[in-house]
Amino acid sequence: MAIDTSAVIDVTSPNTLADPFTPPADSSLWRKNFLLGAATASYQIEGAVNEDGRLPSIWDTFSATPGKVLAGDTGAVACDHYHRWEADIDMLAGLGLEGYRLSIAWPRVMDASGAPNRKGIDFYKRLLARLKEKGITTFVTLYHWDLPQYLEDRGGWLNRDTAYRFADYADLMSRELAGSVDAWATLNEPWCSAYLGYGNGHHAPGLADGRFATQAMHHLLLAHGLAVPVLRANDPGSQIGIVANIGRGTANSDSAADQRAAHLFEVQHNAWILDPLLKGAYPRDLWELWPGTEPLVLDGDMKTIAAPLDFLGINYYFRTNVESDGAHGFREVPLEGVERTQMGWEVYPDGLRDLLIGFKGAYGNLPPIYITENGMASDDKVSDGRVDDAQRISFLKRHLAAVDQAIKAGVEVRGYFLWSLMDNFEWAFGYERRFGVVHVDYSTQKRTVKRSAELVSRFLKERKAQV
Ligand code: FCB
Repeated sequence: MAIDTSAVIDVTSPNTLADPFTPPADSSLWRKNFLLGAATASYQIEGAVNEDGRLPSIWDTFSATPGKVLAGDTGAVACDHYHRWEADIDMLAGLGLEGYRLSIAWPRVMDASGAPNRKGIDFYKRLLARLKEKGITTFVTLYHWDLPQYLEDRGGWLNRDTAYRFADYADLMSRELAGSVDAWATLNEPWCSAYLGYGNGHHAPGLADGRFATQAMHHLLLAHGLAVPVLRANDPGSQIGIVANIGRGTANSDSAADQRAAHLFEVQHNAWILDPLLKGAYPRDLWELWPGTEPLVLDGDMKTIAAPLDFLGINYYFRTNVESDGAHGFREVPLEGVERTQMGWEVYPDGLRDLLIGFKGAYGNLPPIYITENGMASDDKVSDGRVDDAQRISFLKRHLAAVDQAIKAGVEVRGYFLWSLMDNFEWAFGYERRFGVVHVDYSTQKRTVKRSAELVSRFLKERKAQV
């Protein structure tokens, strides 16, 4: 198959274009009700891991384990957002961003007996009150990977009981914060929690067993399903959803075996999560790919998991080109000559469009979609007080164009959150990989607005001013 080079650009030059960001006049992005915001997550930005009664999470343990995180970095200080939250929210509002997706640190708000931690809860109350004051729409994720370590000590997501503890946590938070959250997301990227956390060990808690991954996934999805009615009952004015990362798999050739490999890649990345949520069943092809790994499913679980959603959050980053491994699976064939980011991920906006359109065809009940994360890492440097992140500007423009194309093809996409508001602790890659539209100098905690944020801001202000 010919390599598609249409997306390859000279990343040193896009800023010389007259307008490197502003969407064309006919773009759906100009609609004032298309929410444009930025996202973060608790462990990646807050720091203050021992303050005000916060208990350890699996990421404290994992990042303290030698060899798990690049350069031995941890989230102990991160962006010090726990202390700088007011200035950070002012910065977000100053940029004109209309939505903010944040997550709550479970170990900050509840102890092992299930008792609330007032100081931790008050932090989020203050934060949400400030966001409301600024007129910013809030998307709150309950679980962005920082499981309390005391739950991991009892088996974590391998223990069915964790799903019930999650429902208790969702109950507490939605009672405490009712009325100040516009949209609740139960989980962020269960694929990463299950596969990277329990399947290959690249993420906390660092276990590596195929059967662990499928059982952890089942308990994560069950946790989600148990929490949905609780959130609805406690906070009826809010939208309830979940956030899934999705991956585009393309076949390295037209051969039936490679086409099948690409299909299986997407089953593993997408259908593994979306089928249970939207069809109430695991995709059967998954057990062809991973024979003998079916999780233990109790009567009624699939119905609980398939609780109707108000929205589906989609995180998209890159595509993977695959071929058949000669047996039942796939293996990656990295493409040469394509544009990549600091993560080595291929820049492939068409993948986002194609997946969205594909989901619309595959799931008759596809809920309205928010792109809850999209963005890229680059090795950004401050020079003369400025950060010219030309590749990111071009990346964002092209991915927003892909979203527009999906909308025009009939997919209901209601908004888009940049990942991320600011550079932060990028999990196993520590602080080296910079995903922010705002630069963070970790030695001084100085924030510097990058050129990408300036252009997004300019667009939002222009859109707001339009009659
Ligand atoms: C996603 C995570 C997010 C961030 C981006 C780059 O998988 O949800 O926290 O690390 O990747």
